Amino acid sequence: MAATSSCSVNLGVKGKGKLEQPFSSSKSSLLLFSSNLSFAYNNTKYCLSLRSHHTLLSACLTKTKNSAFVVASAKPEHLKIMISGAPASGKGTQCELITKKYGLVHIAAGDLLRAEIASGSENGKRAKEYMEKGQLVPNEIVVMMVKDRLLQPDSQENGWLLDGYPRSLSQATALKEFGFRPDLFIVLEVNEEILVERVVGRRLDPVTGKIYHLKYSPPETEEIAARLTQRFDDTEEKVKLRLQTHHQNVEAVLSMYEDITLKVNGNVPKEDVFAQIDDALTKLFEDQKLTSGSLAA
Ligand code: AP5
Repeated sequence: MAATSSCSVNLGVKGKGKLEQPFSSSKSSLLLFSSNLSFAYNNTKYCLSLRSHHTLLSACLTKTKNSAFVVASAKPEHLKIMISGAPASGKGTQCELITKKYGLVHIAAGDLLRAEIASGSENGKRAKEYMEKGQLVPNEIVVMMVKDRLLQPDSQENGWLLDGYPRSLSQATALKEFGFRPDLFIVLEVNEEILVERVVGRRLDPVTGKIYHLKYSPPETEEIAARLTQRFDDTEEKVKLRLQTHHQNVEAVLSMYEDITLKVNGNVPKEDVFAQIDDALTKLFEDQKLTSGSLAA
């Protein structure tokens, strides 16, 4: 088997720019243009790739016995989105709608942790202790779990939608060090009394994974209603602890993504929340197409 080697370099250029609505920081703000230059080779092939503003430019030199040829390509990169908000602000509900329309891979830190608990692993047992107290699960369990999922081929090929991560400055910093930078950071803003009502009424369908609410999003049939389950941390008492943890960390996380933050009014029905997000994502997609078109020309 041929051995493959590679190396990569991050390039950063800072400049003054103006972000347009719907981003929250509409005033003049600092834009970061960042590129990633990488080189890989094996016995027959040498590839140079430049990741730059939503586009992957690559040139590969392939050697055969009697000749060598170069193939160059420019293809748009897929979107990388983060969604954040207080417990029960509607992150999972919006993720269902976003993935349905945009085909991104939904990666929810809470779901990864619940899967670890269900597997009966040591990490799962430890994680549950923290989740029951409404506290953040320690980084040594969460950080690599999320990083590994982001590196899976489906996330790399289709783009990702990261839900409930990062939740602390140290998690945001770790993500940056691994080279993951989102295109957009969505923050759902919901009043506190609404959050408690949403938590208490939430139910989950273990067969389809769909999220329901007894009042706002009731199950479609009696059969579904009969199999719905409730999360172990979905009580009024536990959501108050989860909210405390959220308030302690939220500002530090927001400060990392100020220039790409979209604040969304999450108090309205889910379709109206989605309309705000959809507008921003449509603009991002158009921007991505334009940029990749002009770079490829
Ligand atoms: P996690 O599972 O992420 O829970 P959470 O952040 O508390 O968020 P939820 O999943 O409860 O709510 P959601 O915003 O997805 O709302 P949903 O769409 O379901 O985390 C659980 C625990 O894991 C944490 O407490 C922590 O211990 C640990 N953890 C997770 N990530 C971690 C990390 N990064 N680091 C360390 N520890 C971590 O909606 C809620 C309800 O409202 C539903 O019933 C829905 O139907 C309804 N609803 C939604 N939108 C609307 C609307 N617009 N109008 C009316 N009803 C609505």
